[in-house]
Amino acid sequence: MTSKMTDTADSPDTYWVFGYGSLIYKVDFPYLQRAQASINGWSRRFWQGSHDHRGTAEAPGRVVTLVPELGACCKGVAYNVEGAVFEHLDHREKNGYQRRILPIQFADTASVVEGTVYVADLDNPAFLGDAPIDQLARHILRSHGPSGSNRDYLLQLAEALRAIGDDDAHVSALEAAVLRSAIST
Ligand code: SIN
Repeated sequence: MTSKMTDTADSPDTYWVFGYGSLIYKVDFPYLQRAQASINGWSRRFWQGSHDHRGTAEAPGRVVTLVPELGACCKGVAYNVEGAVFEHLDHREKNGYQRRILPIQFADTASVVEGTVYVADLDNPAFLGDAPIDQLARHILRSHGPSGSNRDYLLQLAEALRAIGDDDAHVSALEAAVLRSAIST
């Protein structure tokens, strides 16, 4: 296995974390390096309930998790961080997400490192699962939580994915449905 780490990121006390949702665009933690990256065999889906950020326990919002899918590739951003950052990330991602160690592939060099990915598994209590796109869009449009509107979460993610050259069909379809509904309401 090769590593992309440079001198600063070569310390044994630093770790790679892959972000595929709000970790791409809401970077409220210090990092040593940031790089476009992807993980194979996983798809990003708005199937996880959010009780603490984009919804409430009574009216959860919908945020992304990763679901296993043969042949899929999920693009995102990898951060090289010091170990102390995990306390903050574990708290931020506490609503159903677990740390997993997965191979992360860097976009520029195609080199691979093992790193942490926060995945909310299908059996976590906040998991909501699949629904038709229009239903997901309506759910997102009516949801709000302490971190803001669920609509902003989706639109900021869609914008951030465009900025890294990603074309995620699920996110684009939801963005279009949300924008369509906003116009027609
Ligand atoms: C992530 O961004 O990697 C995890 C999901 C989220 O916080 O939106």
